[in-house]
Amino acid sequence: MLRWCPKIVAVRIALVWLALSMVVGASEAANPAAVVPDNPMCPVMLGSAVDPEFWLDYNGKRIWFCCDNCRARFIANPDFFMPNVEDEAYQTAGTTGSGEPAGFVGSLIGLAGRWHPVAVHFPIALALAALLAEIMTIMTGARTFLPVSRFLLWTAVAGALLAAPFGWAAAHGAGYSEVVQQTVFRHRWLGTGGGAILLIALLAREVAEKPKDRKFAWGLYRLSLFVGAVAIALAGYFGGVLVYGPDHFRF
Ligand code: HEM
Repeated sequence: MLRWCPKIVAVRIALVWLALSMVVGASEAANPAAVVPDNPMCPVMLGSAVDPEFWLDYNGKRIWFCCDNCRARFIANPDFFMPNVEDEAYQTAGTTGSGEPAGFVGSLIGLAGRWHPVAVHFPIALALAALLAEIMTIMTGARTFLPVSRFLLWTAVAGALLAAPFGWAAAHGAGYSEVVQQTVFRHRWLGTGGGAILLIALLAREVAEKPKDRKFAWGLYRLSLFVGAVAIALAGYFGGVLVYGPDHFRF
């Protein structure tokens, strides 16, 4: 009859554990994926920690990425992304890739920043659609498009009022390299300024609905709608540069 001796069982388990650890340890030593990456933060998807599985040798240096997609984007624009590999402030900022304060407020800012890519599409599309509806009004003289452009402008402003603060949160404390900082600067002020100009357009439009001062208000509305929509579209372009690199529209 088979007898269970707890001591023997414990020794056997320990031996199996030891053998498994040695096998895993040996395979990790032979596997380059176990190497600690020189750049802990992805140079393309700023703020993402690298995955040791995705790397590339460039100019005699091994560079790691968070995913295969980022590796492909790097190959398309190495000069643009290389400063992020060499930027020590960014690389040592930690796994969040930003100098966000720790704790509840820091987590809240981080979360708000991650909502930025979700929110941005609304102001871009809605402001351009409002502008199109206004152009249709001017060209056709038909009143049909008047409520359309008014509604679209309201929703575009609401979208911009969400997207812009989320954008500030996304950029908060991030240690961008100098090259990227220029793009962040253009993007930030086109986005913030464009949102503010759209708000002026909305206020002017609402004043224009009243019987007094209509001419001036209509003029201001149309001008600021045009400038605001173009600024928001350009902010979208520079947002794309931030994420996909400067040649992201190349055929
Ligand atoms: C309404 C105004 C804005 C629009 C329409 C806009 C649009 C965009 C777009 C289209 C992207 C690329 C998203 C992607 O494809 O993943 C982006 C990324 C980004 N934007 Fe904005 N943006 C606006 C305001 C701002 C502001 C005020 C800031 C502050 C600096 C900002 C900071 C960023 C950052 C840091 C990114 C990089 C990706 C990320 O971490 O989310 N944005 N933006």
